[in-house]
Amino acid sequence: MRNFSRRDFLKLSASALAVASVSTLLSGCVSNFSRDALSKVSFSHGVASGDANQQAVILWTRAIPVQAGVTQVNLAWQLSKDPSFKQLERSGYVSTSAERDFTVKVDVQQLMPDQRYYYRFVAADSDSMTGVTRTLATAGMTELKLAVFSCSNYPAGYFNVYREAARRNDVDAVIHLGDYIYEYAADGYATERAVEIGRTLATDNASEIITLDDYRKRYALYRTDAGLQQLHAAVPWYLVWDDHEITNDTWHSGAENHQPDSEGDFFERRSAAVRAYYEWLPIRPPMGEDSIQIYRSFNFGELLSLHLLDTRLIARDQQLAYKNYTDPQTGEFAAARYKEDISAERNLLGKAQLGWLTGQLQQSSAKWQLLGQQVLMSKMHIPAELLGTRDFSTLPAKLLALEEVKLRVLRTQQQGLEPDAEDLARVTRLMPYNLDAWDGYPREREQLYATARALNKPLLVIAGDTHNAWHSVLTDQHGQQVGVEFATPSVSSPGMEKYLKIEQEQAAEVASAFSTLINDLQWCNLHQRGFMLLSVTVQGVQCNWQFIDNILTEDYQVVAEHKAVYQA
Ligand SMILES: [Fe+2]
Repeated sequence: MRNFSRRDFLKLSASALAVASVSTLLSGCVSNFSRDALSKVSFSHGVASGDANQQAVILWTRAIPVQAGVTQVNLAWQLSKDPSFKQLERSGYVSTSAERDFTVKVDVQQLMPDQRYYYRFVAADSDSMTGVTRTLATAGMTELKLAVFSCSNYPAGYFNVYREAARRNDVDAVIHLGDYIYEYAADGYATERAVEIGRTLATDNASEIITLDDYRKRYALYRTDAGLQQLHAAVPWYLVWDDHEITNDTWHSGAENHQPDSEGDFFERRSAAVRAYYEWLPIRPPMGEDSIQIYRSFNFGELLSLHLLDTRLIARDQQLAYKNYTDPQTGEFAAARYKEDISAERNLLGKAQLGWLTGQLQQSSAKWQLLGQQVLMSKMHIPAELLGTRDFSTLPAKLLALEEVKLRVLRTQQQGLEPDAEDLARVTRLMPYNLDAWDGYPREREQLYATARALNKPLLVIAGDTHNAWHSVLTDQHGQQVGVEFATPSVSSPGMEKYLKIEQEQAAEVASAFSTLINDLQWCNLHQRGFMLLSVTVQGVQCNWQFIDNILTEDYQVVAEHKAVYQA
């Protein structure tokens, strides 16, 4: 331990900057430092940690210079086993600048496995809040609790769902499956009540976000939410993007919500979005921050391997759309052409990622293989007659009527009798309703299922994207079960209740109709915001969906839950 001079600081910060703001192994003890060399900053957006493995963790903060015109700030960071920071395990200096929006990421190395740590950042005359993080165990883990989230939309409501997870003291880590932000303008998707509830976009960031500056400002707004800051400070996060971190329905070379004529080059926009994402989130992209290769794995002892996947940027072929197979004049559906296209070789993960995943599954000796990804993997095939429906508000009645038909067919079959042919046709002529999900990429899905079966590794799949909660079995083309899927409701984005224009009571009826009509679907919730708690032991995985009653103010209660257990 020694006193720290300004020259030392410059030396250290130069080496930190050399690795693009990420300082590693700058572990000289700085408990006894002079604050003179540190900058005056405001820790405006809390702290965060993430991508913890057995010996390293990313620590994050944002430090805005107090003085106008300052473009670089110098900080110290400290990591300790005790919250008073009397004894430091690691510490160091780090600089950041306007170049990376004054965000700071430190990849602290050579830590002990399975160890809880407290951390904070230190400036000239202030400290950040204290965060808590934990490295992963190498072995011997018998219990694990993961909280799973997706789809937090600032103008749509308060992030009470994050707050609820932070309030519990039993969560080991957070998995976020994407739509951490939304790209829309102040009058765009899910903004109807923003003014009324005090969740408007910043005046200098009220248009659809396209440039680096736009994306940065959007993260800065989202991260003012108190519930979100609390949860980031409480546990390490493991994140992966979906489409809205870039723009709606992104695929490898474009997106539904990107118009090259008026919004410029797609790849430039994507680079800006990815850069801001890496700046603002505590993740360690395996190929560095210049690469979009975000897929990566973590081993929670020998209990569970988490494989975070990208189904958006790297390989996804453009989505098919039913409208391209429907004659606008006659309404006739080009069934043969559609069938040919949907069964063709189409990428979602792509060959490189699927090959990597196969290797990861092969290597892992963990009891559970958890695939953290975005879109629903299970077959969500509904009666084909529903697909032409233009007015979604007529769907609930149609669904309930079809549920009656299916129950009649099942009853007849149980009695050993032939069901009415027309009834049978209505509930067995099925089509996927969302071609942006795995249902639009069935051939690659079968490849993944075949891999899992060949390796004898049942899949535990989690998904976000839909804003609603789903529990399905995963079955391959031969009807064999290869795993289970648990899908998390949104933090605040509106769900099916909005499109179907249904209230709570009817939502439960429609959910039951969905579960009857969709063969692999066990249960769903179509109208409540919430998250999933995965409690993992060697014996089984219990998924516990938690639902809250309000996002329009910061007052809320947990009003419902649902449990499902998977034992492979
Ligand atoms: Fe979403």
